[in-house]
Amino acid sequence: MAGLSILLVGGGAREHAIAWKLAQSDQVKEILVAPGNGGTAVAAKCQNLPVPAENVKLLTEVALSHGVDCAVVGPEAPLVGGLVDVLLQSGIPTLGPCQDAAVIEGSKAFAKMLMQKYEIPCARSATFESLQEARDYVDRHELPVVVKADGLAAGKGVIIATTRQEAGAALDLIMAQQAFGTAGDRVVIEECLVGTEVSLLAFTDGTTVVPMVPACDYKRVGDGDQGPNTGGMGCYSPPARVDAALISRVLETILLPTVRAMAAEGRPYRGVLYAGLMLTADGPKVLEFNARLGDPETQVILPRLATDLVDVIFAVSEGRLAGLDVRWQPQPAVGVVLASGGYPGSYEKGKTIRGLDQVDKDVIVFHAGTKLVDLVDCRTVTDGGRILTVVATGPTMDAARQKVYGNVSRVQFDGCHYRTDIALREVQS
Ligand code: AMP
Ligand code: GLY
Repeated sequence: MAGLSILLVGGGAREHAIAWKLAQSDQVKEILVAPGNGGTAVAAKCQNLPVPAENVKLLTEVALSHGVDCAVVGPEAPLVGGLVDVLLQSGIPTLGPCQDAAVIEGSKAFAKMLMQKYEIPCARSATFESLQEARDYVDRHELPVVVKADGLAAGKGVIIATTRQEAGAALDLIMAQQAFGTAGDRVVIEECLVGTEVSLLAFTDGTTVVPMVPACDYKRVGDGDQGPNTGGMGCYSPPARVDAALISRVLETILLPTVRAMAAEGRPYRGVLYAGLMLTADGPKVLEFNARLGDPETQVILPRLATDLVDVIFAVSEGRLAGLDVRWQPQPAVGVVLASGGYPGSYEKGKTIRGLDQVDKDVIVFHAGTKLVDLVDCRTVTDGGRILTVVATGPTMDAARQKVYGNVSRVQFDGCHYRTDIALREVQS
């Protein structure tokens, strides 16, 4: 299989991490990244294509005209939009679920229906299409209560309300003001779970489920989990309390039952299944499913993957995952996200990023919202909210953490901010 050409859809740090991992495979000749970013513009074996990740038609044309051998779809929008179905119909093996399976992320109401029907542990909940009925329900519900827009809302459609007034305002925002568009045509209202949040992702070919190493991400913008939610400000792997016994428990009570349930519903699930979990006093419960690799989880998970990612892609798409030995490096990894001034609110773009050449050779810098403006001197500018994920591994979590922060401080751009407490709880406990 020498000389594979791969289409990689997306332009975040997750996709840069996927490209970085794919490029290490001797089987890979080129990676076409659509649209990519300033990092994938110069990464080994990579070529950016100026095609938006949401344009299913154009992406399929590009895949066919370049004669790609396989594809990986990173973000949720093209998965929910049916890109995988079209690529598979065109004969291109693709890592990612089909549209009718990606609904597990695309509709929280569907995910809750599935979990209730198949007794997969999750928060008690109810789904509403009527604003009045939803209001009546929250008026009776104990507080705090979690209000969720049904559809995709870029991670912003979940509001934890501690008063009835906040719950009513959340319903108004989602259903009356349609802040998230049609994603708010339905709402899921659920009990607030208490515990530690972890992400456990798995590869699945529809039958076999292979968990990845667990990770913890940091959603709030500021240290100590202060300030608004973001797309993710950092991540580490593994959280010590998620040991082999807990992973088996999640596999047996959540991941395998979910993949079997999807098959039973006539929606076979192949690709990556991401379980966002709360470790409660009653055991692990599902907060959400995503139909893809997480961001920033991928930036710390893939550096720990010892197996060739190309072998995983083909094993998943050909239903051979049971025969593949998926191995992981024992070394922990810590990733810190550098963001633009003002993010997650409004921010300016076009700030020159300095110090990228000062980073240690064994530290990885994954780009997200960056643009390469000068190929000769490799001048890169900011072009989004989250700019870079800097990742280090080490013999211990403490060593990985010290290494990453020692390097983060060498990279600068106007307005740059980052959390200083990523993985701190692991080294303090
Ligand atoms: P989701 O997109 O459903 O994962 O929700 C985003 C974030 O909201 C999660 O990562 C949790 O921090 C929080 N969250 C969601 N559902 C609940 C719940 N039932 N109880 C407590 N926190 C929740
Ligand atoms: N880290 C959360 C997500 O990828 O949705």
